[in-house]
Amino acid sequence: MIVLDKENRVFTLHTQNTTYQMKADRHSILLHTYYGPRISGGDLSDLIQYADRGFSPNPNEVGDARDYSLDTLPQEYSSCGVGDFRIPSIEFEPEDGSRLADLRYTGYELYRGKYCLEDLPAFWGGEEWETLVIRMRDTAAKMVVELYYGVLEERDLITRAVRVVNQGAETVRLQRCASLCLDFQRDDLDFITFDGCHTMERCPSRAPLRPGIQSVNSLRGTSSHHHNPFVILCDREANEDYGLCYGAMLVYSGNFQAAAERTQLENNRLVLGIDPYNFCFTLAPGESFTAPEAALVCSPRGFGQMSRQFHRALREHLIRDPYHGKRRPVLMNNWEATYFDFTADRLVEIAKGAQGLGIELFVMDDGWFGSRDTDLSGLGDWSVNLNKLPGGLEALVPRIQALGMGFGLWIEPEMVSENSLLYREHPDWALGVPGRPQTRGRSQLVLDFSRREVRDYIYGAMQKILDGASISYLKWDMNRSLSDVWSASLPASRQGEVYHRYVLGVYDILERLRRDYPELLIEGCSGGGGRFDAGMLYYTPQIWCSDNTDAVDRLRIQYGTSFCYPVSAVGSHVSVSPNEQNGRVTSMETRGTVAMSGTFGYEMDLSKCTQEERETIKRQTAFFKEHYGLIQQGDYYRLSDPFTAPFTAWEHVSPDGREALVSLVTGPTQAAAPFRRLRLKGLDPKLKYQVNGEGACPGDVLMEAGWPLPMPWGDHQSMQLYLSAL
Ligand code: GLA
Repeated sequence: MIVLDKENRVFTLHTQNTTYQMKADRHSILLHTYYGPRISGGDLSDLIQYADRGFSPNPNEVGDARDYSLDTLPQEYSSCGVGDFRIPSIEFEPEDGSRLADLRYTGYELYRGKYCLEDLPAFWGGEEWETLVIRMRDTAAKMVVELYYGVLEERDLITRAVRVVNQGAETVRLQRCASLCLDFQRDDLDFITFDGCHTMERCPSRAPLRPGIQSVNSLRGTSSHHHNPFVILCDREANEDYGLCYGAMLVYSGNFQAAAERTQLENNRLVLGIDPYNFCFTLAPGESFTAPEAALVCSPRGFGQMSRQFHRALREHLIRDPYHGKRRPVLMNNWEATYFDFTADRLVEIAKGAQGLGIELFVMDDGWFGSRDTDLSGLGDWSVNLNKLPGGLEALVPRIQALGMGFGLWIEPEMVSENSLLYREHPDWALGVPGRPQTRGRSQLVLDFSRREVRDYIYGAMQKILDGASISYLKWDMNRSLSDVWSASLPASRQGEVYHRYVLGVYDILERLRRDYPELLIEGCSGGGGRFDAGMLYYTPQIWCSDNTDAVDRLRIQYGTSFCYPVSAVGSHVSVSPNEQNGRVTSMETRGTVAMSGTFGYEMDLSKCTQEERETIKRQTAFFKEHYGLIQQGDYYRLSDPFTAPFTAWEHVSPDGREALVSLVTGPTQAAAPFRRLRLKGLDPKLKYQVNGEGACPGDVLMEAGWPLPMPWGDHQSMQLYLSAL
């Protein structure tokens, strides 16, 4: 609910459990007055303290009122070069070369429903949303800044976006345009980021904010394996179940920066948006720029509640039809089974091995096209390699379908190998600066997706494939970071647009796919989880979470991922043991338990499984399908931290609390292990539950006294408890 106090120009955004407030003050400076647990409201600007602080200057119109400074007041969207020396939200340069942004409130608009963003992914929905638009203006440069707020009350979600319009007669260069700025009138806060590398993504890292700026970012052109465009600021004592925390995500898949600053007054500012590195958009008179959407959840009750609100909001209001509610297939992928070394007969043999195991989709991974026998060649030539697959997809797909499975395909549309027909014909289609040798990544170059003709060509090639055979799934991969970012299609003065235009180009093709093939399920991928962000989730309802398929490493990766992203987004497969990435040996049970806390599938040669393994797989797929709704749409509870606890446990609970699935994987085994209990969460304390079909254990007992853990026997054993209310 958005409450407006017109007279005092106070805007209060209430969600179920939180309140957010801003006010345009007497100088039309937009002050941020509150964000936290829900309160009754009123004008909270009365609480703001004014005091003269040395070297905190004063706007011209306040005269000698030295206690009024943009440097000390909490700002809703920080200005630049006019007295606030904290992180700016915006920077632009008119023709005089100045770099000032003095933003003053000019008006608002309020309506039911959710605003839309042109060409960018964003949360969607109807009457359950409210939108507030605040207009600000820099009078001298005639630049208008519109701040968009979407309020999804039930999910405690506040989205934000920013549109900048050049209303002057001069060209303006926009050099920074954050999506979100948040000034916290709170003391000590911790900053949590999700960091890692290829094959070890999104490991939480928590540290107190110290004076100055701490930030994570990506300059890789993608959101990256290394940091995620999702961060948390929280009270020092906040944990899973207690304490105040704020989660902030960017709905964007390119370069980003999340910067938190602890100020001279021991307050804190968070700024989130596109990283200003090599970002510069030229806005001619009348032109505008829209910054990607950001989304906030504040939880007064710890990280668990915050995550569940993000999960629900992403599932219900970001992932689109038909896949936001529909069951996704249990798949098998041939990558770790064959790598590049396969033929049609070999694939059919593997698919035969999958027959009768509950697998619903067969995915042919890399190596099916052009001269792609290794990762040194072929990207860009999206026509079937007829030596490997005689008769093409038209011949192969029906053979797979005859085994009772749908057919899916791997593709890496954004890339080109130098050893390819496409590159030989269009070397200038790859990103690169004329006269400079390009940097290779995985021996490949990046196509310039900021260019329409490049996109049109690639889309045409994709259409040919999709129209020629019955393909129900695409794995859209992207296996390197961007470098040599320069586009032949733009003049020197506009090269700072290429990073962002590239991302818009990717979104454009994904949107065309959605328009032309609405039933096609697309799984995002970038060397595993190198582009695991809400921007991609808008187009690809699931994303391959990591190239690391080891169940034990995955416990950590999926734990970190779960702070923001729902289980239904997490691409996760059972692969062979010893694992191909780290040699670890784990049981089929443990691998299945971990993978089914994701989209679930198998990535191994199922024709080589023993009879016992086949029985296990059959049980696992049946169990997964039986509890699909609970796992994918239920509420997710983290029961332990795999980075510190001797075991990892998590729980899916149905929205009505009548059903739950508890999964647990033990750590390294030990003799004389301590006696431990696992305390469950989210149950109805008054109900009695059967555990794995037996007994009648009260919910309060399970939550407060806990369930005794089995004694470990061997490393990394798993256990699942299915609870149903009597
Ligand atoms: C990336 C993906 C893998 C696989 C290979 C194929 O690394 O993450 O799953 O598809 O590419 O080359």
